[in-house]
Amino acid sequence: MGVELLFALRFAKFLAIALFLAGLAATFASERLEAKRRSVGLLVAPGFLLTWGFGFALAMLVGHSLFAPFILYTLLASFVALQAALFYGLAEDRPRRNPLRIAVLCVIASFYFMVYRHAL
Ligand code: HEM
Repeated sequence: MGVELLFALRFAKFLAIALFLAGLAATFASERLEAKRRSVGLLVAPGFLLTWGFGFALAMLVGHSLFAPFILYTLLASFVALQAALFYGLAEDRPRRNPLRIAVLCVIASFYFMVYRHAL
């Protein structure tokens, strides 16, 4: 039971991250407010919530402290990526370049913190 649940949660979290990343890409690729809002609402927000939800569930199942550095750093980095997408995506005539850069850097940082968690 334990191992199957672990694999199911890892797989679910992988899909949630894919949803979040697809949402970021779709948001920053759009220019019309209506399209940006749709990507934020249908992809970015659910992807983010599911990633955090499955992430917390995994941390509890595997026995990681929620205050482990890799988790705290990733919570912060993914939250900033979300803010960048919300800033660009939820209003007309917002600049794109810097929010996009911030989102890309924060996503790369999130992967780094997760993969190199034992070194942090
Ligand atoms: C955009 C945000 C995130 C990305 C891109 C991401 C990515 C990853 C990746 C690639 C791994 C596998 C690393 C490996 O096995 O080498 C992983 C594992 C893990 N992640 Fe995340 N993650 C994110 C958010 C979170 C959050 C918010 C939490 C907790 C609240 C979390 C908790 C965990 C835990 C506990 C593991 C280890 C699971 C295990 O040992 O099987 N992740 N993450």
